[in-house]
Amino acid sequence: MSAVNAVREAGGAGVPRLMERLEERMAAITSGYGPELVRHAGDTIAAGGKRLRPLLVFLAAGVPPPETDGLVRAAVAVELVHSASLVHDDVLDGAALRRGRPSVVATGGRDQATATGDLLFARAFAELAGGGSGRAVGSLSRASTALARGELMQRADAWSPDVTVARYLERCRLKTGVLFRAACELGSIEGSGAVDALGSFGERIGIAFQILDDVLDVTGPPERTGKPRGTDLLDGTATLPLILARERDPEVAALDLGGVRTPAQALDVCERLATSGALQAARERALELVAEGKSMLPSLPRRQLDVLELVADGVVERYS
Ligand code: IPE
Ligand code: IPE
Ligand code: MG
Ligand code: MG
Repeated sequence: MSAVNAVREAGGAGVPRLMERLEERMAAITSGYGPELVRHAGDTIAAGGKRLRPLLVFLAAGVPPPETDGLVRAAVAVELVHSASLVHDDVLDGAALRRGRPSVVATGGRDQATATGDLLFARAFAELAGGGSGRAVGSLSRASTALARGELMQRADAWSPDVTVARYLERCRLKTGVLFRAACELGSIEGSGAVDALGSFGERIGIAFQILDDVLDVTGPPERTGKPRGTDLLDGTATLPLILARERDPEVAALDLGGVRTPAQALDVCERLATSGALQAARERALELVAEGKSMLPSLPRRQLDVLELVADGVVERYS
């Protein structure tokens, strides 16, 4: 059983019902905004994905989660922001594939992908505004702002030979951690309370999740990740495996990312990163963040704590 299915099952009988309501609302959400946008936004949503962030919204609310409209809206809003960020991310990264299918930028071009991402962002906030919690809107707005800042930071650091671990971790926090925080905050606003502590837990496991995504970019396999190995290197993005390998292997330290131009060259560098021990060290850093996240969990019913810990552990086993 995959880690995400194990978590869904542990979350109780209400989780599949909530997931079904989420899918129905997500499918309906893009209609009425013109054929191009409907097609691209609809395709993005239909391509699926693990739906990990909505799951976190549900489980942060309670185990079993309350089956309320407000909770479904919160989960939809978070997944729409995630989807919007992926559509824009693929423009910035020039990515041909997303979730194993052609990306919106590959099928519709830059302009349509930009507008599709904008539409998804806007629909996310409309969904949340319908629920009426200003606190929830504030949380999701902070996540969207952080996402933009994280992407800008990544562009500013592209091809840089000296990105530090601290700067990399801050980028991961902005790109991924703050949206995981928002997922936990929105869930707890609708349910169990303890908003700040659950948010801090979410942020830590979100950073760990991004580290594992970056490790998987090096290790693949492409059938699992839905994208070729070494794409971050080809984009000039220094991730933790490269940063740690630079510290361990003088040849990697001397490597100019600008010289890595072909997929074959990128694969060679991936092999070099693997032999340097940097992948294991990156996984260990992610495990530390998971442990830190777990230690921040507030006092909640035992069953909910167990399931949230299962989510945290799954981040490092890596949901696929
Ligand atoms: C991909 O997130 C982007 C990152 C933050 C690493 P996911 O791996 O959760 O993407 P989907 O939704 O399952 O496709
Ligand atoms: C995560 O960054 C994407 C966002 C947070 C928007 P990546 O660039 O690593 O994500 P993938 O690898 O394209 O899914
Ligand atoms: Mg990307
Ligand atoms: Mg990636």
